[in-house]
Amino acid sequence: MKILLRFALHVVVTSVGISISGYAQESRVHGLTGHASTGGDAFKRNCAGCHAASGDGKGTFAPYLDPRPRDLTAAVYHCRSTPSGSLPTDDDLYDTMMRGIVTTAMPFWRPLPPQTRADMVAYIKKFSPRFASEGAGVPLTIPPETQITFDGIEQGAAVYQKLACASCHGAKGHGDGPNADTLTDIKHRPDAPYDFTVTARFKCGATNQELYRTMITGMDGTPMKSYAQSATPDEMWQLVHFVRTLQAARKSEENRVLKAGRRKPADESMEIDPKSKPRTPAEFANSRIASGTE
Ligand code: HEC
Ligand code: HEC
Repeated sequence: MKILLRFALHVVVTSVGISISGYAQESRVHGLTGHASTGGDAFKRNCAGCHAASGDGKGTFAPYLDPRPRDLTAAVYHCRSTPSGSLPTDDDLYDTMMRGIVTTAMPFWRPLPPQTRADMVAYIKKFSPRFASEGAGVPLTIPPETQITFDGIEQGAAVYQKLACASCHGAKGHGDGPNADTLTDIKHRPDAPYDFTVTARFKCGATNQELYRTMITGMDGTPMKSYAQSATPDEMWQLVHFVRTLQAARKSEENRVLKAGRRKPADESMEIDPKSKPRTPAEFANSRIASGTE
C-alpha cells in the first residue's frame, strides 16, 4: 500500500513537473502558440548580436550600446502588465517585440511574421528557470480614464509633489531632480530618469493607458518603482494628465486644456502673489518646493 502510494505520488509530481516545463517551452500570444524549439534560429539571427546566443546580453554589439542589451537570463523586465517583482505575460513580451524600445537600440520586430515572434517569446522564456517554476504574474487592471480637466491637471501637479517624482525627474520634468545623478540600474550602471520635456515616446507604450500602467507596474531593474499602492486611481489619472503637460511641445488634449484654462482668470488657490501671472502646474509645483510647503 505504502509503495503504491509512493508510486502514485511520484506520478503526480512528475506529471506536474512535465506540464510546467512543457508550458515554459511554449508561449500563447494573441491566439497563437509559439514553440521554443522553432524560436532558436530566429533568435540567433535577429537578437544574438546584441543579447548574445546565451541571452546574457553580452552580444558582439553590446559594448557600443547605452543602455546595454538586456540580460535575458535575469528575467527582470521593464515592460509588464504584471505587478513589480513578477514575471511578464507572454503578451507583454510579444508586445515589447512589436513596439521595440524607442530611445534605445532595441528595434521593433513588426516585419517578422507573428508566428516567428510568438516562437521567440517561448524561446526567450527558456533563458530563466523562473518562467518554468513560477509563471507570469496576474495583470493589474487599469481603471477607466477620468476626464482631462484643468483642475485635474492642477491636482496631478500636487500628486507629482506628494509622491516626490521631482526628486528624480525634476520639478519641470527635465530629468534633473536632486537624485538624478546618483541613480543606477540592477547592473550598477547609471540610469537617468526620463526627461519629459524631450517628448520621446515612452518605453513601454505611448498611450495614456500604457503610461498609467508603467506607473503602477514600475520598471523592474531600474529606480522607477511601482506606484500601485501610492495613490487612488483618480489621483493616478490626474498624475498621468499632469505629466503629459510636462511634455510641453507635444500636441495633446492635456496641453490644450491647460492652455485654455490659463486663459481664464487666475484661480485664487493657485496664486500666492495676486499680481503674478497664472502659472503652469509645473511652475506651481516648483514654487511649492521652493517655499517648502511640500
Ligand atoms: C541592436 C541591438 C538589439 C537587438 C538586435 C535586439 N535587442 Fe532587445 N534590447 C536591446 C536593448 C539595448 C535593450 C534594453 C533597453 C532598455 O534597457 O531600455 C533590449 C531589451 C530587450 C528586452 C527587455 C524588454 C523589457 O521589458 O525590459 C527584450 C524582451 C528584448 N530586448 C528582446 C529582444 C528580441 C526577442 C530580439 C530579437 C528579435 C532583440 N531583443 C533584438 C537591444 C537589442
Ligand atoms: C528614485 C528616482 C525616481 C522616482 C522617485 C521616480 N522615477 Fe520615474 N523613472 C526613474 C528612472 C531612472 C526612469 C528610467 C528607467 C529606464 O528607462 O531605465 C524612470 C522612468 C519613468 C517613466 C517612463 C519613461 C519611459 O522612458 O518610458 C515614467 C512615465 C516615469 N518615470 C514617471 C514617474 C512619475 C510620475 C513618478 C512619481 C510618481 C516617478 N517617475 C518617480 C526614476 C524615478
